[in-house]
Amino acid sequence: MLKVWINGAGGQLGQALNDVIDHMEFEIFNSDVNELDITNVDDVLSFGKINRPDIIINCAGFTDVDACEKDPKTAYRVNALGARNLSIVAGQIGAKMVQLSTDDVFDGKSDSPYKEFDFATPCSVYGKSKLAGENYVKEFTSKHFIIRSNWVYGKRANFVRDFIKLSQTQKLISIASDQYGSPTSANELAKFILYIIETNEYGTYHATCTGSCSRYAFAKEIARLTNNDVHIEAAPSAEAHLTSIRPAYAVLDNFILSIDDVYTFPDWKDALATYVKEMED
Ligand SMILES: NC(=O)c1ccc[n+]([C@@H]2O[C@H](COP(=O)([O-])OP(=O)(O)OC[C@H]3O[C@@H](n4cnc5c(N)ncnc54)[C@H](OP(=O)(O)O)[C@@H]3O)[C@@H](O)[C@H]2O)c1
Repeated sequence: MLKVWINGAGGQLGQALNDVIDHMEFEIFNSDVNELDITNVDDVLSFGKINRPDIIINCAGFTDVDACEKDPKTAYRVNALGARNLSIVAGQIGAKMVQLSTDDVFDGKSDSPYKEFDFATPCSVYGKSKLAGENYVKEFTSKHFIIRSNWVYGKRANFVRDFIKLSQTQKLISIASDQYGSPTSANELAKFILYIIETNEYGTYHATCTGSCSRYAFAKEIARLTNNDVHIEAAPSAEAHLTSIRPAYAVLDNFILSIDDVYTFPDWKDALATYVKEMED
């Protein structure tokens, strides 16, 4: 039975992995900051050497983009050094290492989807700290998967839930029409991770649901699926609700997956419909 250590197990993706993984096929070690702080190198090394997982999945992160700007030291401590610590132990025990990363490693100034080979020039502290984490993973492990995703929604606060909550108190909501991305279901991302970890096809992957939209179109689709008649107005980011410093054009091209034709994500609208239905059930 393969042993998998999921860090950040209480987060959106950590929970989704636990929901979709076959618990008969894998032995799971879950940890989050209360059990094991990934910034503590001694604790990370000790846990890894005692439990000897075959695969380490790093879903842990300081993911609040605005908070990262205010507290860059914590951002780098968690997103860069935390990834480094897990990579060190992965390298020492020969485990495969899965590092979650983000479209925020790009500056968002492109007008076409970013491929894995495009040069990363992050603008935000969050993006810079995540890129530093990627670089540590490359430095300390050879058996790694770096998985960049975008606009992920799962079982914790995210754009879908925040929009629905806001619509309960506001009659008019302004949503950014100048930010583009690919809404991606945490469950779909988790399914992809479970597929890729069984291969030896190491490297960097862009992994998002298919298709893209503006935040405004995303909100309109959430409202349609939830039969919510709140009035939604298209606005520039600076005047919109539910925005933070994000790349304007955050669309990732799942290029490596497409050239090998090995894995196809569902369309973002289909995945969102499944998510909304599960939320309502
Ligand atoms: N959400 C997105 O839109 C998105 C998009 C692209 C990539 N990603 C990446 O995907 C990964 C998972 O995202 P997510 O949405 O699941 O994030 P999330 O919901 O914020 O979960 C992150 C988890 O990490 C925990 N954590 C924070 N500091 C830690 C530490 N020092 N040691 C151990 N655990 C710690 C958090 O605990 P607390 O909640 O107690 O702080 C939380 O449970 C992250 O690497 C993120 O950068 C996310």
